[in-house]
Amino acid sequence: MKVGVLISGRGSNMDALINACRNEDFPARIVCVLSNKAEAPGLQIAEQDNVPTHVVDHRQFESREDFDAQVTKILRSYEVDVVCLAGFMRILSSAFVSDWHNRLLNIHPSLLPAFKGLHVHERVLEAGVRFTGCTVHFVRPEMDEGPIIVQSAVPVMPDDTPDSLARRVLNTEHRCYPHALKLMAEGKLEIVGETVTVHGQSQLSVGAVPATINPPDK
Ligand code: GRF
Repeated sequence: MKVGVLISGRGSNMDALINACRNEDFPARIVCVLSNKAEAPGLQIAEQDNVPTHVVDHRQFESREDFDAQVTKILRSYEVDVVCLAGFMRILSSAFVSDWHNRLLNIHPSLLPAFKGLHVHERVLEAGVRFTGCTVHFVRPEMDEGPIIVQSAVPVMPDDTPDSLARRVLNTEHRCYPHALKLMAEGKLEIVGETVTVHGQSQLSVGAVPATINPPDK
């Protein structure tokens, strides 16, 4: 399965996906990385990993649709099957989301549907919840909505700051995203209504990645 990754910044989740795909047994390959920002640090990481990169500067396009069409054109030139959003900070047009329907994945640093949007860790601390986590989901036109593939819960500690919590959640994101991509590439995901059924293994062992131990089939 050929995968394209869209980033806007640091690219640590992209790096986790590239590293997972390096394993010969992993059923997917990252064939290109696109960024809307030329200065995104993740671009250098991808280049060091010999993954082709492209910058598509959104400021050069008259409309969101034009920008998205250019992104799709590049992804198609690599015969991409699945697109992973990894810290991509642009809202995508409904045309793009429908072009890639059920082939477009995102990772969000909370247990969706709680804490959609930005500044997640600040809001988690303000709310006083005891657990947070991350979610890998199929993308729908509404931000941070869509069928959930994998989630992992992370405890919130009494002395956490937004930064310490972000680090703990990010650590688990780096295991969840490759895990979700692997399930997708193995054809184990079926979307029924707007929920995902994971075939072949129990939902508990596959869809919920424990925070402190490796996913069972890693
Ligand atoms: C991650 O926390 C991800 O969940 C969110 O944006 C952040 C991207 O970080 N969507 P990175 O660029 O992958 O390091």
